[in-house]
Amino acid sequence: MLGATTASTFPCQRAPWAFPWWEKRSIGSCRVQISTLLAVSVSAMYSKPTCWAGPVVRVTGGENVRRILMGEHQLVLSQWPQSTRRLLGGSAFINSVGDIHRFKRKVMTPVLSHSALESYLPSIQHVVRDAVSAWSASLTPTTVYPACKNLTFRIAMRVLLGFRPSDAELENLSNVFEQFVENLFSLPFDLPFSGLRKGINARNKLHLFLEKFILEKLEKSETKDYLDALDILISSANQHDKSMSMLELKEAVVELIFAAYSTTASASTSLILQLLKHPAVLTKLQEELVDAGLSPPPTDGPEYEGLSLSSIMGLNYLDWVIKEVLRLLPPVSGGYRIALKTFELDGCQIPKGWGVMYSIRDTQDMAAAFSSPQNFDPERFSPARQEDAKERFSYLPFGGGVRSCLGKELAKVIIKVLAIELASSCSWELASQSFPQMHTVPIVHPVDGLLVCFRPLAPEDRATEARA
Ligand code: HEM
Repeated sequence: MLGATTASTFPCQRAPWAFPWWEKRSIGSCRVQISTLLAVSVSAMYSKPTCWAGPVVRVTGGENVRRILMGEHQLVLSQWPQSTRRLLGGSAFINSVGDIHRFKRKVMTPVLSHSALESYLPSIQHVVRDAVSAWSASLTPTTVYPACKNLTFRIAMRVLLGFRPSDAELENLSNVFEQFVENLFSLPFDLPFSGLRKGINARNKLHLFLEKFILEKLEKSETKDYLDALDILISSANQHDKSMSMLELKEAVVELIFAAYSTTASASTSLILQLLKHPAVLTKLQEELVDAGLSPPPTDGPEYEGLSLSSIMGLNYLDWVIKEVLRLLPPVSGGYRIALKTFELDGCQIPKGWGVMYSIRDTQDMAAAFSSPQNFDPERFSPARQEDAKERFSYLPFGGGVRSCLGKELAKVIIKVLAIELASSCSWELASQSFPQMHTVPIVHPVDGLLVCFRPLAPEDRATEARA
């Protein structure tokens, strides 16, 4: 029953120091959390402590994680908590496996392709610029994490749906969405006042809005100067001979906003935090922007064509900074899988049916490939050092294998546009006594949200800052 190999260690031994109803144990690089009733995965992906019916093995280390990620469909299968699956809906990505999953990725690929990003870029820059001017015009400090969530939500509305809501409409929808996300990982009991019930109510409100909006959109036949993600999704599905039902469209849109929302906001907040902590890095970034002709920022007007993808991609130092933020503070701590059969990993047996959580954070923290891993050091990604290339799967903020993040290029573009707008047009100062502690659950974020005073730079200050 425990598998054929005698050399391996069966991890399910009760440790004497264990808390009565759950226990955890480290064997090799597999950290195991076991329970007879419930296992609580305390650092699960995007999640609050999550209840799983059964034991969960937490896997760390590049080689072990490689086996899990490359073993999708043979050793393991992606499986999210029950309430998440129910709230995101039957046609959601996270609920699909095998051929259906492969097909969904094919349909979704054009939505997040290079040419699609080029088409979204002006809207992204527009929304980011508006947010940055509001932050720097504010007389009170900005609480960065909620402000970044709000920003990501606005971008998602504009870029994914082509929706131009009023501020009041947006505020209302954003609150409903926040309530949906807060309850995505609740206990799987649909009872009055339960988290799941609140999540279902929020999801129904979102679907109602989306249905009205999608119908209006489908009825309009106006020609547009750019395509939003919903246009591309509908046309991609048609090209693959699969027109999507209204329910499928609504579920796809909600899932995409969810995938982008807290993750991108978390990374944007961590970027601002790290640049506050490391002014020399900010100065170097500002110098790169001056050299690229992006600082001082060209002002909006008929002549200004906006940022292009190639100008953003050419900013090497910015790229290393973002990579380093995602190494030190990966927004997603890991991913959920279920063992399809009993198999051995690093000397431990993982029995069929057990939950497996591959850990991004621990793997990146412990990787020998990174010198002084606790230091914020963007140059580790320079061509001269390339520390991330030393060991495959030691750097995986976007996961890996067949379920790797589909939106990673979009996420990087959003974070880069924010960095460019902030670094070229604002000065920033921490508005709290000391740097906040970071929470990693449900997703990496500062406990106080990160209080910062942003101030617009006068044109002469911009030149001086860049030269200093
Ligand atoms: C910094 C921001 C982001 C981070 C750190 C991130 C991270 C991840 C990770 C680690 C996974 C793999 C989960 C697993 O192995 O089970 C994933 C999957 C996914 N992400 Fe992202 N993500 C980000 C932004 C986005 C954005 C902006 C989108 C799209 C709008 C997106 C869409 C997706 C989708 C669709 C999947 C599921 C892929 C599949 O199951 O085949 N992500 N993301």
